[in-house]
Amino acid sequence: MMRKVSIAAVLVLVSSHAIANDDLLMAAERIFKPIPSAIPAVKDNPVTTEKAELGKMLFFDPRLSASGIISCNTCHNLGTGGVDAGPTSVGHGWQKGPRRAPTVYNAVFNVAQFWDGRAADLKAQAKGPVQASAEMNATPGHVTRTLNSMEDYVGKFKQAFPRDTPPVTFDNFTKALEAFEATLTTPAAPFDQYLNGDANALDDQQKAGLRLFMNKGCASCHNGINIGGQDFFPFGVIKKPDIKLLPAADKGRFAVTTAPSDQYVFRVAPLRNVALRAPYFHSGQVWTLKEAVGIMSEVQLGAKLSEKENNDIVAFLNSLSGRLPKIEYPILPTRTKETPPPSL
Ligand code: HEM
Ligand code: HEM
Repeated sequence: MMRKVSIAAVLVLVSSHAIANDDLLMAAERIFKPIPSAIPAVKDNPVTTEKAELGKMLFFDPRLSASGIISCNTCHNLGTGGVDAGPTSVGHGWQKGPRRAPTVYNAVFNVAQFWDGRAADLKAQAKGPVQASAEMNATPGHVTRTLNSMEDYVGKFKQAFPRDTPPVTFDNFTKALEAFEATLTTPAAPFDQYLNGDANALDDQQKAGLRLFMNKGCASCHNGINIGGQDFFPFGVIKKPDIKLLPAADKGRFAVTTAPSDQYVFRVAPLRNVALRAPYFHSGQVWTLKEAVGIMSEVQLGAKLSEKENNDIVAFLNSLSGRLPKIEYPILPTRTKETPPPSL
C-alpha cells in the first residue's frame, strides 16, 4: 500500500487528473466512490445487530477507563463529527496527547487506522485507546472484570458471541466495538447524490470547487470512498509546514516502518464530513477549513490559491457532509459490588 513519494510522482498524478469542463461528473466518478447505504461488511467479524448494539454500549461506557470518566465518546464525540473539541486529545489525568482524534465516522473505509496507519483495522485499533496511559489508562483485565461484574453485559456478550466460552473476552470487546463503528457511516451527502448521477446535487460553486480539487491535484491524494484515508504521503511534499503544524517530535509513519523516506509521512486525511470537525491536521492547530485548504495547496502542491479558488474548494468540501446515523444514547448496566472502583 505504501507508495514511494516524490515531487515528480505527485505532479504526474496531478496532470493525469487534469480534466475538461464538460465531463466533470464522469471524471469524478472515476476518482471517487459514493458511500453505500448498506452497512459495509467487516473482515473476520460479521456485523450483527446484537454485536453492534453491544458495541454501542461499550463505546459510551466510561467505566471501561481507569478513571471511570472517559469513554470512547469523550474523544470521538458522535455529536461533534466523531471528534473532540481539539486541538489534541486530553485523556487520563488531564494528559495531553500529541495528536488530534480522527473521526470514527466512516473510519471503517480507511485502509489502516491512526494518523500513521499503525493498526490494520478497527479491531486492532480498539486495543489501543483503553490501554494507552494518555487515553483511558486501563488494562484488558480491568475491562473484562468490569464487564463480568454486570450480569446484563454478560448476557449481551452471550447473545453477540453465542459460540464463545467465555463470551466476555478482550478480543470480543474489540469485535463488538468494530461492529458498532461499521454502522457509523454517513451516506447521502450532496456529493454522493452527485456521484450517483444527480447532476443538480451540487450547486455551481461546489462544482467549480470539485473541478479545482481535481485539476489542482488535491484528488491525486484525496480520492476513493473517503476522499482520503487510502494512502500515505509526507505532510509537506513541496514546502515544510510551520513547526506548530508539524511538530518535529512526531515523525508519523516513520515510527511504524523506520524507513527514512517515511519521516513526516501521514495517512492522507479522509475528508468526509470535514466541515464538521475543526481543528485540522494531526496537530489540530488550524481552526478554519479555508486556512487548511490554503496550507494544503502551498505545502503539498506549491500553489497559492486565489480567494475565489479557495472559497470554491471550501464550498465543495461542504458538500461532503453526509447523513449522520441517529444514535440513541444507550442505558448502561448498573454497577455491582464487584465492579472495580475508579482510580483517578
Ligand atoms: C484514533 C476509536 C478512545 C483519542 C482512533 C481511531 C479510531 C478510534 C477508530 C482511528 C481513526 C482513524 O485513524 O481514522 C476509539 C475507540 C475508543 C477510543 C473505539 C474506545 C475504546 C479514545 C479516547 C481518546 C482517543 C478515550 C482520547 C483520550 C484518539 C486519538 C487518535 C485516535 C488522539 C489518533 C491517535 C494516533 O493517530 O496516533 N480512535 N477511540 N480515543 N483516538 Fe480513539
Ligand atoms: C490533510 C485538503 C492536497 C495529503 C488535509 C486536510 C484538508 C486537506 C482539509 C485536513 C483534514 C483534517 O485534518 O481532517 C486538501 C486540499 C488539497 C490537498 C484542498 C489541494 C489543494 C493534498 C495533496 C496531498 C495531500 C496533493 C498529497 C501529496 C494530505 C495529508 C494530510 C492532509 C497527508 C494529513 C496531514 C496531517 O495532518 O498530518 N488535506 N489537501 N493533500 N492532506 Fe490534503
